[in-house]
Amino acid sequence: MAKKKSILDLHKMKSNKEKVAWITAYDFPTASFAEQAGMDMILVGDSLGMVVLGYQGTVPVTMDDCISHCQAVRRGAPNTFVVGDMPFGSYHKSDEDAVENAVRFLKEADVDAIKLEGGVRIASRIKAIADAGIVAIGHIGLTPQSAGQLGGFKAQGLYVDSAEDLIKDAIAIEEAGALALLLEAVPPELTEFIASKLSIPVYSIGAGLPCDGQLIICGDMLGMFQAFTPKFVKKYANVAEVITNAFKEYVDDVKGENFPEDKHVYHIKDSLEDFQKLFNKYE
Ligand code: KIV
Repeated sequence: MAKKKSILDLHKMKSNKEKVAWITAYDFPTASFAEQAGMDMILVGDSLGMVVLGYQGTVPVTMDDCISHCQAVRRGAPNTFVVGDMPFGSYHKSDEDAVENAVRFLKEADVDAIKLEGGVRIASRIKAIADAGIVAIGHIGLTPQSAGQLGGFKAQGLYVDSAEDLIKDAIAIEEAGALALLLEAVPPELTEFIASKLSIPVYSIGAGLPCDGQLIICGDMLGMFQAFTPKFVKKYANVAEVITNAFKEYVDDVKGENFPEDKHVYHIKDSLEDFQKLFNKYE
C-alpha cells in the first residue's frame, strides 16, 4: 500500500513534473476503488448534490451532507489525500464562519484539505483558513456554486477581459495562502499561463493539459450521471447501462421464477418428516 501523500508530496510532484490524478468520490466503495487504483487525490465534491442526491445544482448541499460523505470516503480511502469541498453558504458570511466550517471538515471527517470557490472576492476567507493551519485549495473558472451568476455551466476566460479577471483571481488565491489551485472549464492557453505564474500546483477539470494534474467527476467518467455530460469529460465506462441491464435481468428472473436457484437457498438439516411433524402441529 502506497504511503498517503501530503501537500508537500503534491508540491514535489509539481517540481518533478509528475502529474496528479484526482477524482471525485462520495461513498465508501468508490473511495476504496480509487485508492486501489492508485489515485493521488480524492475530492468529495459538493457535486454530490447532483451526482448522488439528485438536485439540479450544488446550492442545496449542506455542511452535514459534505461531512457525512467525507467520512465515508475517508473510511474507504484511509491512505489517500482527501479534499473536502466547502458547500454553498459555508464560507459566504464571514472569515470566522469559513474557519469554523473548515475546522469541522478536519475534526469530523479527517480530510487533508478543503476547497472553496472564488478568487479575489474570497481571498480573505482563504487567508483566514490558511492562518488556522488548514490546507486550502482555490477553485476558479466555471464555479458551479455561482452558475446562476455565470448564466449557467459555461466555459470561462475565453475572452481577454474575463481571462484577465481569472489571472488576478489566481494570483490573489496564491497570495492569500492557498496551497493549490483548481481551474475549471478554461482554455488551455490561459491554464498554461496561470500555471507558469504560480508556484503552487495548478490542476485542471476541463482546463486542458498544461498544468500539474487532472480532476474528473467519477459519475461522469463512469457514465453514471445521465442529466448532461460536459465537453471536457472522457467516458471510461458505461456503468449506468451495466446496472440497468443487471436490474432488468433480475426483474425478469423474479417474474419468471428463475431466481433464486437451488444454490441460493439454505437446506434443512433435520429430516423432511421431522419438519412435516412441526408444520402439522400448527395446521
Ligand atoms: O463539486 C465538485 O465536484 C467540484 C468540481 C466540479 C471541481 O467542485
